[in-house]
Amino acid sequence: MENIEGKVAFITGGASGIGLGIAKACAKYGMKVVIADSRQGALDEAMDYFKKAGQPVHPIKLDVTDRIAYAKAADEAEAVFGKIHVLVNNAGVASGGPVQNMTFKDWDFSIGVNITGVANGLVIILPRILKHGEGGHVVATSSTGGLTAVGGASIYCTTKYAVAGMMECIATELQDKNIGASVLVPGPTTTNLGKSTFANRPGHLKNEGEPRMPPPPPPSKDGKPWRPPWDVSVFMDPVETGERVLRAIKRNDLFIITHPEFRDGIIARNEALLRACPDEPPYQKRHETLKMFGTLLYNPIYEKQTTPGPPDWNTD
Ligand code: NAI
Repeated sequence: MENIEGKVAFITGGASGIGLGIAKACAKYGMKVVIADSRQGALDEAMDYFKKAGQPVHPIKLDVTDRIAYAKAADEAEAVFGKIHVLVNNAGVASGGPVQNMTFKDWDFSIGVNITGVANGLVIILPRILKHGEGGHVVATSSTGGLTAVGGASIYCTTKYAVAGMMECIATELQDKNIGASVLVPGPTTTNLGKSTFANRPGHLKNEGEPRMPPPPPPSKDGKPWRPPWDVSVFMDPVETGERVLRAIKRNDLFIITHPEFRDGIIARNEALLRACPDEPPYQKRHETLKMFGTLLYNPIYEKQTTPGPPDWNTD
């Protein structure tokens, strides 16, 4: 989608962190933006910024797991801005801990938001983008944990692998429909994910005995406020992530990988897959038959991915 000016973006989880960074970039490049988020306070705070900037942004309180409310939100977006061109399925929640300790509620909560919430956006908004025929783009936020496995994050990685696979398939299908599709793969970014995950977990999906408030940080030995053992100041600013997403929409990139630090991990996984392929000659008759199954054996969409190059945006 080369020409984005005046087009309309619908961004879930758009009131905070990465979604807000994407919203800021969209508005900066002349788009109209709907920020949909379940937290009213975060929406109000984000709107203070956009009102001051005089940018056309419309907030909608929405829980992406509520399909009826989601369809109403899409209607509202169209009533306000006419059409939706860009869908950013970004709302997500975190989870972590040893897999043997994970409960049905832990699985249901994360799958509900991180996978079904994304599917809801596709079912409700994608037909609307197809219908107006002006073209568009769909982005969904996965994670580096959606490309390589992270111990202690089995649920999170499950959902993020699902989002990556979903977007690779969707990009394949939409190629000739003038709608691009990208999977956003952020590394560590300065956001409110811990806090918002806690706030967004509904009562019926809380584990028994789970604290109503986040647990207090552990006491420090020296009396200074607790800090994590890593330097969070090196995390990416979500506004930079937003710039990377906008560039990818314009370039129609399949993958938006924000952090170069993950290259070796990605290589290691893909090399492991190659080593796991049977080192035997293919059974020719089966090989010929499988070629009839569309892109099952070989998907040329991967060939289209080029390197975006160094940052080309100004940060004023
Ligand atoms: P954030 O907490 O700053 O933003 C997420 C927003 O999504 C929040 O405002 C939250 O209220 C909203 N949200 C959560 N559940 C919702 C629901 N059911 N309906 C509507 N809105 C909902 O966190 P962040 O990090 O910006 O998260 C955005 C996405 O980025 C998530 O999908 C997350 O998994 C992903 N991600 C984040 C990384 C990081 O380092 N922060 C790294 C990789 C991926």
